[in-house]
Amino acid sequence: MYRFKPELRIPGPVPVPNAVSLRMAQPMINHRGKVFKERFPSILSRLKPLFGTTNPIYMITGSGTSGMEAAVSNLVSPGTPVLCLVGGFFGKRWADLCQAYKGKVHVLDFPWDGGIDPNRVREYLAQHPEIELIFVVHNESSTAVLNDIEAISKARGNHQALLVVDAVSSLGGTPIEMDGWDLDVVISASQKCLMTPPGTAFISVSPRAREYMEKCEASRYYFDIRKYEQFMEKGETPFTPNINNVFALEEALNMIEAEGLDKVFARHILMRDMMRAGAKAVGLELLVGEKDASPTVTGVKFPNADSFRARIREQYGVEFAGGQGVHANNIFRVGHMGYATPLDVLIALAVLEIDLGKYGEATKVAEKVMNR
Ligand SMILES: Cc1ncc(COP(=O)(O)O)c(C=O)c1O
Repeated sequence: MYRFKPELRIPGPVPVPNAVSLRMAQPMINHRGKVFKERFPSILSRLKPLFGTTNPIYMITGSGTSGMEAAVSNLVSPGTPVLCLVGGFFGKRWADLCQAYKGKVHVLDFPWDGGIDPNRVREYLAQHPEIELIFVVHNESSTAVLNDIEAISKARGNHQALLVVDAVSSLGGTPIEMDGWDLDVVISASQKCLMTPPGTAFISVSPRAREYMEKCEASRYYFDIRKYEQFMEKGETPFTPNINNVFALEEALNMIEAEGLDKVFARHILMRDMMRAGAKAVGLELLVGEKDASPTVTGVKFPNADSFRARIREQYGVEFAGGQGVHANNIFRVGHMGYATPLDVLIALAVLEIDLGKYGEATKVAEKVMNR
C-alpha cells in the first residue's frame, strides 16, 4: 500500500528534502576546476559549528564506515594499545576495525540498553596507563543510546589517551563540542542528520591527533589523511569525490542554517519526547531509560519485531528499522533524525496505535508533548 510515498522512519539513510534532490540534479562539474575549488572548502567549513570545532574537516567518498576506517588507519599501528568502549553494534565495529589494523585491542563492554559509564572508563584507564587511543560512539544507533561524550572525555583526567568519536548518527541532530569537550578525532556521515544521500564521510582531527598520526605505521592509501590535507590546500580532494553529495550538502546546510542549529536540536529533542511518550501510552516498553535516550532514534521492545515491521510496511508504507546483534527481532527502531518533523512522529505513532487497537492513545499523549 502507498509504496509510491514510503515513510522512511529508520536511523539512516533518511528522506532527502526536495530542495536537496533538485540541487543534486545540477550539471556535473570538474572536481579539479575553478567552481569546485571555490565552493568546496567553504561548504565544508560550514560544518564546523556542527562539529563544534575550528579544526579542519575533510570529506571522504565512502560510507560512514570509511570515516571510521580513515580514523583507525591513520592512528593504529600494529601493537598500539587501544581501548574500545562497546555498548552496541557500532562500538563493536570500532573494535573490529582496530583488530583488523592489528592494534592491541582492549574492550570495555557495557550493557546494550544504556550509556557508557564514565567511572568504569576512569578506573580502567587508571589500571592501563599504556592505552594510547580510546574509540567510542556518540549516538549508538543500534541501541538508541546517546552517550555522554563530555563525561567520557573528562574521565581521562591526565591520561595520555586520545579520544576518537563516531558521530555518524548524532552530528547535526544534537550538540557536539569537539573543541569544548577536548575530542581528538570526530567522524560523521552524510545520510543521517545531514539530510543528504549516503556516500560521503567527514573527519575532523585535532592538532594533537594530527601530530600523533605522523608516527602511525599502518599501511594506508585512499584513507591517508595527509593526502586530504595536501589537496585541501588547493580546495580539492585527492580522489574524485561524490560531487553530487557536495551540492546536496550545500543545500542541506542552507536549510539547517535557516532553521538555526539550536532549533534543529530542539526539534530532535521534541521528536524523541513525543515518540517515547506515545510508545509508552500504548503499553510498549522502551529499550533505553530517559537519561540515555537518543534524540535521533528510539528503540522499542517488541516480540517478533520483524514480522510486525513487515506488516506495518505492507499495510501502511511505514518503514521501521529492526534490531541488531543481541536485539535482532526483539526491538524495532524508529528514526527521527534529519529531515523529520513532529508530524512524522505522529504518523509513526498512528500506525502503532491502529495495529495495537489502541486508537488515539499514542497520538493524544504525543500531541500534548508537542504543545507543551
Ligand atoms: C553510529 C553509526 N556508526 C557507523 C555507522 C556505519 O555507517 P555506514 O553504514 O554508512 O558505513 C552507522 C550506520 O548506521 C551508525 O549509525
